[in-house]
Amino acid sequence: MNDSGAERLVVENAGLRYGQLDVLADISLSVGISEIVSIVGPSGCGKTTLLRCVGGLNQLNYGEIRIDGQRVEKPLPIVSMVFQHFGLFPWKNLWSNIAYGLKLRHAPKEEIDRRVADAIDLVGLKGFEKSYPHQLSGGMQQRAGLARALVMEPKLLLMDEPFSAIDAQTREQLQFELLRIWDRRPTAMIFVTHAIDEAVLMGDRVIVLAGRPAHVRAVRKVDLPRPRDRSVVSSPAFINLREQVWHDLFDQPGANGARIQ
Ligand SMILES: Nc1ncnc2c1ncn2[C@@H]1O[C@H](COP(=O)(O)OP(=O)(O)OP(=O)(O)O)[C@@H](O)[C@H]1O
Ligand SMILES: [Mg+2]
Repeated sequence: MNDSGAERLVVENAGLRYGQLDVLADISLSVGISEIVSIVGPSGCGKTTLLRCVGGLNQLNYGEIRIDGQRVEKPLPIVSMVFQHFGLFPWKNLWSNIAYGLKLRHAPKEEIDRRVADAIDLVGLKGFEKSYPHQLSGGMQQRAGLARALVMEPKLLLMDEPFSAIDAQTREQLQFELLRIWDRRPTAMIFVTHAIDEAVLMGDRVIVLAGRPAHVRAVRKVDLPRPRDRSVVSSPAFINLREQVWHDLFDQPGANGARIQ
């Protein structure tokens, strides 16, 4: 963890069912104030469901989620979410898509103008303010999704497989862009992904969810220095961690259950 030890998010013994389907069981985790926690797990295991609970969009059946000590029962303004399929309004141009949340909060016009311009600059979309989503590539749309979250200056950023619908080359580019943005403005973040490499590259810790209902099978600390660049992925420490997480995901768990590093 690279924060002072304070926790922004605490999830305690969280459990959720959809009707008869037990999805999450006794999930406990925390995220520090400037920590990136990656979550990996098989498709359908409940990653999005967990993120929606943290975002106040789904309610737990038992357990508790707190952000800065406040119990989450509805979406909180200090939390922003970036989705896998961009979630932009097709009828609004880039500028209006990014300004939307600030307008809802009735922010003053000058402040909206300044913050939207900053966010667009930050994600490298200057010059495309008037473009509509269908006029942007997948990578650009996801940059816009990221800008729309960042413009709110969230204290907790929830990212649900943000780069999985994007080609491999652009995806790699976006991973490092997001790391650069985070280096400039460190914030608490949950980064959900299928990809083990991506989980290790982005995270200060990797949490492995598995089973039905899903539980925390392993927590791995990622002791790789920041800022991280491309050289990190060929380092022995990176390769070793990737192996560990792979085994956490695919080996049958032993009698001891969770592996916590
Ligand atoms: N609204 C819902 N009603 C009923 N069941 C649901 C609902 N949303 C998700 N589920 C079920 O809950 C389980 C977890 O789904 P979830 O989308 O959280 O998984 P996931 O880990 O995000 O999967 P993926 O990696 O494919 O995105 C799945 O079995 C899914 O079918
Ligand atoms: Mg999902």
